[in-house]
Amino acid sequence: MDSPFTGIAAADLEPTAAGAERLDALDPLAAFRDRFHVPKGPDGSDAGYFVGNSLGLQPTAARAIVEQELDDWAALGVEGHFEATRPWYPYHENLRTGFAHVVGAGSGEVVAMNSLTANLHLLLISFFRPEGDRRIILMEDGAFPSDTYAVHSHVVARGGDPERDVVRISTRPGEDLLRLEDVLETIERLGDRLATVMLGGVNFRTGQFLDLASITDAAHAVGATAGFDLAHAAGNVPMSLHDWNVDFAAWCTYKYLNGGPGAVAGAFIHERHATNPDIPRFAGWWGNDPDTRFRMHLEDTFIPVPTAEAWQLSNPPILAMAPLIASLDLFQEAGMPALRAKSRVLTGFLHTCLREMLPGGSEVITPGNAEERGCQLSVRIADRARERFDALAPRGIVADFRPPDVVRLAPVPLYNTFADCLRVAEVLRSI
Ligand SMILES: Cc1ncc(COP(=O)(O)O)c(C=O)c1O
Repeated sequence: MDSPFTGIAAADLEPTAAGAERLDALDPLAAFRDRFHVPKGPDGSDAGYFVGNSLGLQPTAARAIVEQELDDWAALGVEGHFEATRPWYPYHENLRTGFAHVVGAGSGEVVAMNSLTANLHLLLISFFRPEGDRRIILMEDGAFPSDTYAVHSHVVARGGDPERDVVRISTRPGEDLLRLEDVLETIERLGDRLATVMLGGVNFRTGQFLDLASITDAAHAVGATAGFDLAHAAGNVPMSLHDWNVDFAAWCTYKYLNGGPGAVAGAFIHERHATNPDIPRFAGWWGNDPDTRFRMHLEDTFIPVPTAEAWQLSNPPILAMAPLIASLDLFQEAGMPALRAKSRVLTGFLHTCLREMLPGGSEVITPGNAEERGCQLSVRIADRARERFDALAPRGIVADFRPPDVVRLAPVPLYNTFADCLRVAEVLRSI
């Protein structure tokens, strides 16, 4: 079904209360907001919550699922592995379809496990394989620090030197955003010295969404692998990781995917690798064929499941996965196409409001083109940025700050409204 938001152009957006009201009335996803707990501001009314890019809101259905697991544990003890309402033994399977929907993958290409950085490590062992003169890993300047630490530690662990073997692509002087042409040109220039490209799919600071398909093609053209940190992309922008031939990816689920603080992360491994039993990996019993998994002392040969689940190490953390089931159900019910259709207009509306109301000299540094961003807008505040940011919370706005001067605002289509967007712009103007 076509979304009523399809075909609404930026020029049609009117940054007024009437404009916001008209768009909220049009919103076919409006009722999803009631399926989340929205924190209250100091005056007791709903806060303007703009940090779904940091910690997504709690789905109202999450509590019942967590309580069910606690009840089943209390009533069944160890039998819960097979007898629980949702048996714990194959619990990770509850997240397969939802993950596949969100990142555009087959159900055998995704797995819920560990945390994001841990998954990056496991994937780098398999897909960053420096050999001979092919030793370089390409990242972006200003990558999330955990990714930099992870990559550097891999290079060192394989006897390399981060100074030499990690190439960081930068924005041009005076610019905030990476240019695709620069990324592609760098990949081509590194050629057969390039082992792996590992970039953030959506940049955590600027909100820029890279063209993952073109970057993957360019990496493959020089014989390198391509993988992405999708922390800020999963649940934010629709993707087609399978069709784009991406080799590997990892994401956390506490941001747009509303899995709760520290919730279990996701990983994608393209089918052509996931079905290859010979790919090097760090193994654990949960990646082994379930038919022989329990023959502990009888079999010490690892027989990988022919899916992304072969990368699992340990049995699934039930309580860390339970809330995610509730959230992924909402994603499937709403559907990524409808969420994206709303998100484009919602973010476009916030952008228009900010353009009208931001104090002079301040600017949105996120790309203006909807194809190159998800819902996050990063606003560079020209004057007394920290002071202005600090004034938001007492006015009921929850946003976040990246020093020295960037305020990040993420209107999330599952629970933010057009009225929220107008409100944050007005508050920024008033302070
Ligand atoms: C882009 C990005 N990468 C990596 C991480 C690290 O995630 P984790 O602590 O789940 O490993 C984060 C956390 O916010 C992030 O935003």
